[in-house]
Amino acid sequence: MPVVAVVNCKGGSGKSTLATHLAAHYANAGSPVMLGDVDRQQSTQSWLRLRGMHNLQRSAPIVGWAVDPKRVLRPPAGVSLVVLDTPGGLRGFDLARVVAFADVIVMPVCNSVFDRESAAECHAELMTLPRVASGRCKLAAVGMRIDSRTKAADVLATWARGLKLPFIGVLREAQVYVRCVEQGLTLFDLPDEQTKTDLAQWKPIIEWLEAALRVANKPPVRRDPVLIRTPLPGSLRDEATPSLHQAATRVESVLPLIQRRPAFADAVRPSPPRLSGWFGWLTAARAGSAR
Ligand SMILES: Nc1ncnc2c1ncn2[C@@H]1O[C@H](COP(=O)(O)OP(=O)(O)O)[C@@H](O)[C@H]1O
Ligand SMILES: [Mg+2]
Repeated sequence: MPVVAVVNCKGGSGKSTLATHLAAHYANAGSPVMLGDVDRQQSTQSWLRLRGMHNLQRSAPIVGWAVDPKRVLRPPAGVSLVVLDTPGGLRGFDLARVVAFADVIVMPVCNSVFDRESAAECHAELMTLPRVASGRCKLAAVGMRIDSRTKAADVLATWARGLKLPFIGVLREAQVYVRCVEQGLTLFDLPDEQTKTDLAQWKPIIEWLEAALRVANKPPVRRDPVLIRTPLPGSLRDEATPSLHQAATRVESVLPLIQRRPAFADAVRPSPPRLSGWFGWLTAARAGSAR
């Protein structure tokens, strides 16, 4: 299954915003997504808890995965796409461990000299890893929080060209991103007429991702999208927090999807503690042959 990792060693560069939006984009396109969080703060897992309060009928499920960065990353079978959010300061062995399982890395970069310098360092470290240097794991940058009245987009594009780093698009600075994420939502969950300009900015980013995953021979599997329009959510509608009834409906709408797909149900079930060494290997081998 394809694994998209969102990486930038600098905190506050927009990783969690980008990761949650990518997960929601694919979920709204009908792919059950696993949103992994290598970050100790587990920000995307809190986002998922908030998301569970909404009645997002057209979205396929997004399930959480709290990843221990010190362990080997082994994405569970049965999900059609994994999006990995990562913490600031991810370097060395921990970075290599994420890259070992990623098919695509997207690096959000804001436009300040500090952000560009830090992203260039992160890019240099990524390029020391054989999977990235050889192109087996594709890498690209996205400009974040870009003010269209300035030359920020051009400055970032020139910077990326200098590094021979594909620069696949920019996202504008807008409060709607902040408000959406605070409520467990993304722009992809809002009615299209409200987000036309922003969705146009996402188009080249998504197109590049799809092409990169096709090259890696891992296009995400689409599964019967539920084509019911989402009501305008939460405070974006100036209403109180979603009711318990809405939360219950959400759980009910997701359960049949999970139950219909045994492999996916396995994926979301908490895994038993991993045993190490020969005993662990023997136990895993026996469990495999018993299946
Ligand atoms: N396009 C955007 N417009 C406005 N604010 C943004 C945008 N993208 C991210 N932010 C804000 O920038 C801050 C850092 O983003 P975040 O995704 O948490 O970064 P990271 O995960 O890299 O630390 C957050 O407050 C977030 O709401
Ligand atoms: Mg984050």
